[in-house]
Amino acid sequence: MTVVVEHSFNYFEKQGEPLTREMDKIVELRNVSAGYGTIPAVQDINLSIEKGSFTGIIGPNGGGKSTLLKIILGLVEPWTGQVRILGQRPERNRHLVGYVPQAATTNRRFPISVRQVVLLGRLAGRAPAFHRYQSLDHDIVDQCLARLEIMDLAERQIGQLSGGQWQRVLIARALAVKPVLLLLDEATSGLDAGVSTQVYELLRELNQEMTIIMVTHDTMALSSYVNNIACINHILHYHGESALSPELIMQVYGCPVELIAHGVPHRVLEQHGGLS
Ligand SMILES: Nc1ncnc2c1ncn2[C@@H]1O[C@H](COP(=O)(O)OP(=O)(O)OP(=O)(O)O)[C@@H](O)[C@H]1O
Ligand SMILES: [Mg+2]
Repeated sequence: MTVVVEHSFNYFEKQGEPLTREMDKIVELRNVSAGYGTIPAVQDINLSIEKGSFTGIIGPNGGGKSTLLKIILGLVEPWTGQVRILGQRPERNRHLVGYVPQAATTNRRFPISVRQVVLLGRLAGRAPAFHRYQSLDHDIVDQCLARLEIMDLAERQIGQLSGGQWQRVLIARALAVKPVLLLLDEATSGLDAGVSTQVYELLRELNQEMTIIMVTHDTMALSSYVNNIACINHILHYHGESALSPELIMQVYGCPVELIAHGVPHRVLEQHGGLS
């Protein structure tokens, strides 16, 4: 199916780019640099994510992976460059994006239940105080809780969950958005091997309906589930087919040990292509 986005061509038209209404590109970053205060986190990123793709983002700690997702969400404003989500500024299409934040950075000291957290996914950017949930919202939340197999936790206070249970709540909340684009930031960290596999299988299924970008340190997932990888360490070293070479890993991480210990690569990249 081709998604047609009205008004999506204004920016590119101004920049002298070809004028197109067919939006096969869900995400487009052009020459994006961003950071915090005066310290840069990512520099000169060019990235184009095709509709229906499943992209894994890898890179070392502090390399800018979470920042990249926040740029796509419009939570971090680029210093320079342009970001388009389905041809629009990120804040305009944020209601189409499901986001699973890095669990370690989330605050669970709120006295609210699992169901209330997942319902937040139905807000679509509106302030909770001004929104009355409809029965459809509750139905969708039930479906998401069931899909993540956490229906039995629905009334539990979030502070009383295990790390793995909380991780699944965050995924359920992102699905409650009914997203076109799903962003996951280390969504399987803290999950045991069996549950991780269940989550990956679920993502594979969801990828039939939506585009997925997943930050991960789990390189087995890269070789088995994603069809593209982006390697980032402040700059984007590689974006393309999900094949890793020792040279690329060395370039991105400065150290091959961790990845090779996990038994990758299965497919070897002969030479760097993409946007390096
Ligand atoms: N809110 C913030 N304020 C100031 N600096 C920040 C903030 N968030 C991130 N940074 C810095 O920006 C850089 C990139 O951080 P980011 O969280 O994007 O890395 P990451 O690749 O997600 O790392 P990790 O694998 O540890 O999650 C780091 O140097 C980090 O310290
Ligand atoms: Mg991170």
